[in-house]
Amino acid sequence: MHPPPVRAMHWINAVAIFIMIGSGWKIYNDDVILGFLHVPDFLTIGKWAQHGLQWHFFGMWIFVLNGLAYLSYGIASGRFRHKLFPISPRELLKTIGDALRFRLAHDDLTHYNAVQKIMYLGVMAVGVLIVISGLSLWKPVQFSELADLFGNFQTIRVVHFLCMAAIVAFILVHVTLALLVPRSLVAMLTGGPVVSPDGGPAAGAKARAAG
Ligand code: HEM
Repeated sequence: MHPPPVRAMHWINAVAIFIMIGSGWKIYNDDVILGFLHVPDFLTIGKWAQHGLQWHFFGMWIFVLNGLAYLSYGIASGRFRHKLFPISPRELLKTIGDALRFRLAHDDLTHYNAVQKIMYLGVMAVGVLIVISGLSLWKPVQFSELADLFGNFQTIRVVHFLCMAAIVAFILVHVTLALLVPRSLVAMLTGGPVVSPDGGPAAGAKARAAG
């Protein structure tokens, strides 16, 4: 279900995001956007803002290179096409209804439900936007065309901050769900059930996944 490259890139991404968020919060504390919001020091990475910035650039290379590899792999291997599309409005409404009644089915791990598909595609889109806004903050002159997309420097900061907030919200939901369905967590570590080349469960895999 999750081939080795997907597992490796997923966990590298988790480490990179951890570094990016912790060091980003350190930099943020130096010049806050929301006057009332200072991140407690123990949640930040780096001794002071400049040190946090160095961690941020270190994490940035891992996040961007790993992200490009994941996106290229997902598109070239057909994984995104099989696992994240199509998303039918009917399935989406049904999934939301099931979730609200705590009746979401987890017997077939190999199939992402409509909410999962939207969450994964959404977090990837936010990942692209956070990199574009980050590049514009880092080198507003060299990447002036990118920076122009946002208007002024302060707007870029706010966009970058909102992307971070969206990723943090995603992680809270994502990790909670992974812990509630531990088999999905084990599958992201060990590979999970065997699937046929079209991405569906191979003969017998569905039964094994359910058991
Ligand atoms: C400790 C932190 C994390 C844990 C425990 C975790 C756990 C998991 C698990 C269990 C899956 C399997 C999918 C499923 O059955 O729904 C998964 C998939 C996924 N996770 Fe995470 N995750 C973590 C961090 C992250 C972060 C930081 C991101 C991105 C910001 C992320 C993005 C994704 C995506 C996009 C998938 C789908 C991968 C694919 O099928 O190609 N995860 N994660």
